Amino acid sequence: MTIKKIITYPHPVLREKAKLVTIFDEALQALVKDLADTMWNAPGVGLAANQIGIARQVVVVDRSNQAHERQYITLVNPVISAGEGSIIDEEGCLSVIECTANVKRFRKIHVTAQDVTGNPLEFDAEDRYARIIQHEVDHLLGTLFIDRLSSLKRALYKKKLKKLIQEQE
Ligand code: NI
Repeated sequence: MTIKKIITYPHPVLREKAKLVTIFDEALQALVKDLADTMWNAPGVGLAANQIGIARQVVVVDRSNQAHERQYITLVNPVISAGEGSIIDEEGCLSVIECTANVKRFRKIHVTAQDVTGNPLEFDAEDRYARIIQHEVDHLLGTLFIDRLSSLKRALYKKKLKKLIQEQE
């Protein structure tokens, strides 16, 4: 079990476009395990590889329910190939400290990806599950949820963060 340090905004790795995964080996399995361990420890409901400093197209998403604790799905090279409907709900991010805000997302999405062994995955996701996947796929593109806020809200957050950082120093 390896809990990695979660990288926070404005670190540049969060802005990198993650590279396609072409080799499905033990190193990839280890990366997925680290992502899951780090996500549970935070605790969070999803984590992208960029957030632990590795710009590769790998995310984990919480799929726990009452019957199955600590269950997650791994999405390698995920693509949202279609989206429908829209829903506004509150979001936060382990890489964006002290910030939550309402973000508009598709209510339902169609996803294609690969699993950790390279097998193709294709499925529909709705509501909370769809929201988390959209948030994590954004990470792989170098996008953060604060990019989806109004410029005024983003400016206010940057100001707040600057103050927080100054207080820590
Ligand atoms: Ni995030």
